[in-house]
Amino acid sequence: MSDAPLTFETLAGAALHPLLPDLARLRIVVFRDWPYLYEGDEAYERGYLRAYADAPGAAVVVCRARGEVVGAATCEPMVQGHAPVQAAFRAAGLDPAGFCYFGESVLLRPYRGRGAGVRFFEAREAHARSLGLRRTAFCAVLRDPADPRRPAGHVPLDGFWRRRGYAPRPDLTVGFSWKEVGATEETPHLLSFWLKDLA
Ligand SMILES: CC(C)(COP(=O)(O)OP(=O)(O)OC[C@H]1O[C@@H](n2cnc3c(N)ncnc32)[C@H](O)[C@@H]1OP(=O)(O)O)[C@@H](O)C(=O)NCCC(=O)NCCS
Repeated sequence: MSDAPLTFETLAGAALHPLLPDLARLRIVVFRDWPYLYEGDEAYERGYLRAYADAPGAAVVVCRARGEVVGAATCEPMVQGHAPVQAAFRAAGLDPAGFCYFGESVLLRPYRGRGAGVRFFEAREAHARSLGLRRTAFCAVLRDPADPRRPAGHVPLDGFWRRRGYAPRPDLTVGFSWKEVGATEETPHLLSFWLKDLA
């Protein structure tokens, strides 16, 4: 646990370009753990994040401690993003044009439990409002709770998300493929959505 003060900034466009290597490393480190078990590739990550940086309306909330990037959370109008996400929403009778899509929140372990996750939601919801979007959504990977790779004592984030006002939509899912740690090929993964109507 670190007690270094945390600072937060919502950045977009060219302001993000110098941070792309830091943000790529952050995603790789955090998503390597359960439940994502993601074998990240830095070149791919930089491209992925660059697309965020360059998408109109997208923003990244950057968290720093002693000047170092230790956390980040992404968001963009859903219509700018992944086609399968938009298709899933349309199939459920929801119009993607009304939603701000939250891509990910990642924070290095020593900085957790000090409110950064709450700040990430607040800042992204403020950004959604600034875009005139009144609905927000994110998705999370579905894992078998009996999976032997689940660390003992792992606390799922479901309670944290509910307390932020998000409701699970287990019927609303999307599939993404990635290579798990130790695997040679990508495998498909199912993620389900959580939705909120902003007041
Ligand atoms: C998601 C993630 C960024 C959240 O970060 P976090 O630092 O644990 O989040 P917070 O500290 O804001 O919230 C955790 C709890 O601490 C509480 N908290 C808030 N301020 C606090 C403070 N100053 N001191 C201690 N606890 C505090 C929050 O209220 C929250 O509890 P609650 O849900 O009962 O309200 C982090 O867990 C993470 O990186 N996880 C791995 C990646 C992941 O799975 N991301 C989500 C899918 S993309």
